[in-house]
Amino acid sequence: MAARLFEKKEHAAIYKKYRFSAQENLQKVIFAYLDKKLNSFRLAVDVGCGSGQSTQLLAGRFEKVVGTDVSEAQIEEAKQAGHPPHVSFLACPAEEVPLDDHSADLVVAFTAAHWFDIPRFMTEVDRLLAPSGCVILCSNTLDLQLRYGDCSEELTEILREVIKQISPYKHEKINRVLDDYKEIFDAVPFQDKERITDIFDKMPMSVANLVGYIQSFSPYQTFLKKQPEAAKSLVAKIEQRLLETMGVSSEETQLELWTRQVCVLAHKKA
Ligand SMILES: C[S@@+](CC[C@H](N)C(=O)[O-])C[C@H]1O[C@@H](n2cnc3c(N)ncnc32)[C@H](O)[C@@H]1O
Repeated sequence: MAARLFEKKEHAAIYKKYRFSAQENLQKVIFAYLDKKLNSFRLAVDVGCGSGQSTQLLAGRFEKVVGTDVSEAQIEEAKQAGHPPHVSFLACPAEEVPLDDHSADLVVAFTAAHWFDIPRFMTEVDRLLAPSGCVILCSNTLDLQLRYGDCSEELTEILREVIKQISPYKHEKINRVLDDYKEIFDAVPFQDKERITDIFDKMPMSVANLVGYIQSFSPYQTFLKKQPEAAKSLVAKIEQRLLETMGVSSEETQLELWTRQVCVLAHKKA
């Protein structure tokens, strides 16, 4: 069974506001691989596209880009964000995409594949991909660091404590992220495949946006559903501790979030 999280309107709105698209170093890995492996850039399908931040990145390279997500609310947010005419969005499960057999040059998922029904999804990837097509499945990990002045270590420790506090609410599918997508890599039905586990990117953001980003985590959303008062108080405390540690009072103060990302890249035989 596929997991049905992220589907509510409120979660989709938090996503649109606080989630960011694939950053520079991850983009470099992806586009270098596509340049090496693809002969044509006709259609890219971004499955589990959420509110579409990363879907837009593909628009400059592909003649047509389709973002898909099981959540109608996420697709609504993606459509409302505005997009070029050759980008479109569809609400459907990643395991049943209503596009023709062998029509896609790329099937990609950003921080989404761990939620899918993996055996059914891999069958669907094989059906959708044209000969010589590529599948790329990447994800942020929970290996996060904060950098600000000379208190980076303390800030990172606060973030790690928060992740630990919400971890009892994590879905079992997060284990696929914790094993750096090894299970997903093993399930890819193509021989020409590789897995990279050390792609680091930095995201400059305000303290307010960092707190919003934490609120977009699925374990936090589950915590919020089960214990709303405790979840809200956790968020208020994190913000206060971050500001105190940084020695500032404005939640608009900028810091850097560093993420480690994993990426599985595979190429279907011609
Ligand atoms: C963590 S979000 C990532 C969204 C986006 N790709 C990004 O990078 O911001 C995961 C997304 O996968 C979607 N999702 C989960 N299971 C799905 C499935 N079986 N089929 C399609 N989408 C799914 C969720 O609705 C959610 O929008």
